[in-house]
Amino acid sequence: MWKGKFSSSVTIVVLILCAAANSIVKASFEDEVDIKRSDFPDGFLFGAATSSYQVEGANLEDGRSLCNWDVFCHIKGSIANGDSADIAEDHYHRYMEDIEILHSLGVDAYRFSISWSRVLPSMHFLSPFERFHCSCFFLSWVVVFDKHTRDHGGGKFGGVNQAGILFYNKIIDSLLSRGAMPNDYLIQCFLLFKQIRFIADNSKFSAGIEPFVTIHHFDYPQELEDRYGGWLSHLMQEDFVHFAEICFQSFGDRVKYWCTINEPNLFSEFAYERGTYPPAHCSPPFGNCSTGNSDVEPLIAVHNMLLGHAKTVKIYRERFKSEQRGVVGIVVHSFMYKPLTEDKRDKEAADRALAFNIAWILDPVVFGDYPPEMRHYHGSELPKFASEERIILRDSTDFIGINHYATLYAKDCIYSSCICNDSSCTKGSDRAIRGFVYTAAERDGVPIGEPTGMARFFVVPRGMEEIVEYAKKRYLNKPMFVTENGYSSPLNKVEDYHHDVKRINYLKSYLAFLARAIRNGADVRGYFLWTLMDDFEWVNGYSVRFGIYRVDPQTLNRTPKLSASWFRNFLSNCSLNYVESCNSISLMNTDESRAQSE
Ligand code: NOJ
Repeated sequence: MWKGKFSSSVTIVVLILCAAANSIVKASFEDEVDIKRSDFPDGFLFGAATSSYQVEGANLEDGRSLCNWDVFCHIKGSIANGDSADIAEDHYHRYMEDIEILHSLGVDAYRFSISWSRVLPSMHFLSPFERFHCSCFFLSWVVVFDKHTRDHGGGKFGGVNQAGILFYNKIIDSLLSRGAMPNDYLIQCFLLFKQIRFIADNSKFSAGIEPFVTIHHFDYPQELEDRYGGWLSHLMQEDFVHFAEICFQSFGDRVKYWCTINEPNLFSEFAYERGTYPPAHCSPPFGNCSTGNSDVEPLIAVHNMLLGHAKTVKIYRERFKSEQRGVVGIVVHSFMYKPLTEDKRDKEAADRALAFNIAWILDPVVFGDYPPEMRHYHGSELPKFASEERIILRDSTDFIGINHYATLYAKDCIYSSCICNDSSCTKGSDRAIRGFVYTAAERDGVPIGEPTGMARFFVVPRGMEEIVEYAKKRYLNKPMFVTENGYSSPLNKVEDYHHDVKRINYLKSYLAFLARAIRNGADVRGYFLWTLMDDFEWVNGYSVRFGIYRVDPQTLNRTPKLSASWFRNFLSNCSLNYVESCNSISLMNTDESRAQSE
């Protein structure tokens, strides 16, 4: 599985290579970049990514219970425009269309996550708070009572919901078997009903899509929060391991790539430091939540996630690996950081930012302990691993998953004062939890790259090469996957609905720098574009759009944007600069197929 041979030479026509870093970055985004699939090693996996909560909807169907985000979304003011993901992109019912889209794109792999509360809903005792929210917002809902034994002490949460298992089995089988589920009558009808052109064009389908599964991507049963405080409790480790075991048992015969936890660093920052994700904990100066301690809680939550990860990997290696022969990794949110000035202290601050954000997660799973930088500045506030924990943590990841979108400036706050006075910086930079580093996207009022629809996600293609290079050096070139990379259109740009040229330029230029990192020896095994379709972007609701497919808010029909055609052409090694040249290849288009069938 790891044998992708780096063979082809990389052809990058970027009108830059030497000059100041800023101009390199700018030119590479705006100018033509020639990047081809053949610039990547043989066996390199190209895919698209989604996550369960962001696309599935059907939040109380077929036995799924409430998760932390369901409850949070229905608290007034939590999500932009009062959006929720109760329906989301309705992927739960439209998964076959979405898998056909993936086949029509020609991807090698699809990264998706498993909804914990769909697979292990448990017997959900409603708190008065939830009862209130449920009666207000849901017409009806189902509580699935356990059919299996439960240990209320904290491990083994809940009974397995077979409907949830069935749903993911269908996804996995449809990915691997090019879309058709032989025994499912409805799906067969659906396929017949589809546009003939698409089905007849079988020769252009890929041979089968590799499922690349994230076990936990921000959503977990609300009961775990109510019962013991979710990731703030060590009890969560055992419940996570139990959930992962169910996934290995149920899907591991077909899934060969597993990610334990998506972005523990970003989740804990938003959930326990800034209080913008559930359970909305924080304290000043980060925010004014009703509860929380922003200086300490993120450290505790990550500590539990890391141990949950390590225990899961141990079980996989001891009980499943020899038969299932898969690999397990962890995914880290990875901004690149550049010094704000040439000052040595700002250079150190940029290094510290990398340590406090990325090495925080990766040092423990590679070397068995937190980065020395963090120990130095946090002192006793940083939890300690027992010696047996260090043993299971060390080398507990087969690969590193890198989610990379953007680069920020870093400025030292130990020797100089840091005041956050523009919209791209964040408060609390003079605290240990931030590594005493101020980060921002502007220098003297000039942004580090072109803005996107996401605050702080400025376009800096070269950051891709730099972040990979950082991980390569610090982790002795451990295998890596770019598990997410993508572009969110600035808000209210109607022309971007379909003609998303900026997204194409973003993808091309980031890929070009990724190819260069690989050519320079980085062991990167795959790349996942975020995301397949416009979806629920957490606190931004549907106001931020990352998809290469547009989803109509009313009909939920999917239509390919220009970037989908570009990606399709790229994957089939057609010229990337002229989308039209390969346009004979058809892309799945829900609108068209419905029109034809009517
Ligand atoms: C990373 C997260 O994993 C994903 O859920 C999110 O939508 C993207 N970043 C974009 O913010």
